Amino acid sequence: MAVTDPYRENRRLWDEWSDAFQALWNAETATDAPPTPSPFGPDAPDPERVVPAVESAAVAELGCGGGQGTVGAALAGADRAVGVDLSREQLRHARRLREYCGVDATFVHGEATSLPLATDAFDVAFTEWAFQHVADLDAALREARRVLRDGGTFLCSVPHPFGEVVDGESGEVDRRYHGDSRRTVEIDESYDADMVVFDRPVGDLHRALVDAGFAVDAVVEPDPLDHAPNVDGGPAAAVPRDLRLWATAT
Ligand SMILES: C[S@@+](CC[C@H](N)C(=O)[O-])C[C@H]1O[C@@H](n2cnc3c(N)ncnc32)[C@H](O)[C@@H]1O
Repeated sequence: MAVTDPYRENRRLWDEWSDAFQALWNAETATDAPPTPSPFGPDAPDPERVVPAVESAAVAELGCGGGQGTVGAALAGADRAVGVDLSREQLRHARRLREYCGVDATFVHGEATSLPLATDAFDVAFTEWAFQHVADLDAALREARRVLRDGGTFLCSVPHPFGEVVDGESGEVDRRYHGDSRRTVEIDESYDADMVVFDRPVGDLHRALVDAGFAVDAVVEPDPLDHAPNVDGGPAAAVPRDLRLWATAT
């Protein structure tokens, strides 16, 4: 695995932030369902249009974090559910959630641009709010394509790049949509470094998917008023916050 400095820094920050991040998502609260919904669950945005059948499918989550999506896929009937993440601390939370939910899921340490997964091994792959951290998007998408069988389904969900230029509290436009996509985000002041993210325009994400060997089937921009539990209007509801690109491996 090629270990670059940004990769090492990103992993270190995620390892440090993991306990606080998972507490945000309520990962340790006893509930009947994973604390965040599976992208394939009944509350997925626009399920009738875009949710593929995961029942009996081999499913991989890329950048699985605390494993909510992978565990959710297992609960939804996946035959094999595998989550990959670069942070061992995030994976520790994922394994705990798996035990709590009593499902069969595998969590492996790895990097999105060189996945420790076999070629042509999965029917469905998805990534939820992780690829914005990946500097080499083209390499990560090529890897997603490699592990999928021909005709397999890929869901790439990232923070909506338009939503990211508008401050959710003030409504101020912070930056140019077409400006430099690289941005640093302060986790909070107790951390000694900032998280690096990339806000890529929708057109760039679409092009990168096509270049990697995908046909894009749907671009879904859930209305925050319908889908974000804590948003009840104001600037946070003015623009989409989530972008979901559904694609087929060609
Ligand atoms: C915002 S969290 C999202 C986690 C999970 N998908 C969710 O929806 O809760 C982003 C995750 O991506 C992982 N990540 C970041 N860069 C990565 C990379 N290059 N390869 C694999 N995982 C990565 C981080 O460790 C972190 O767990």
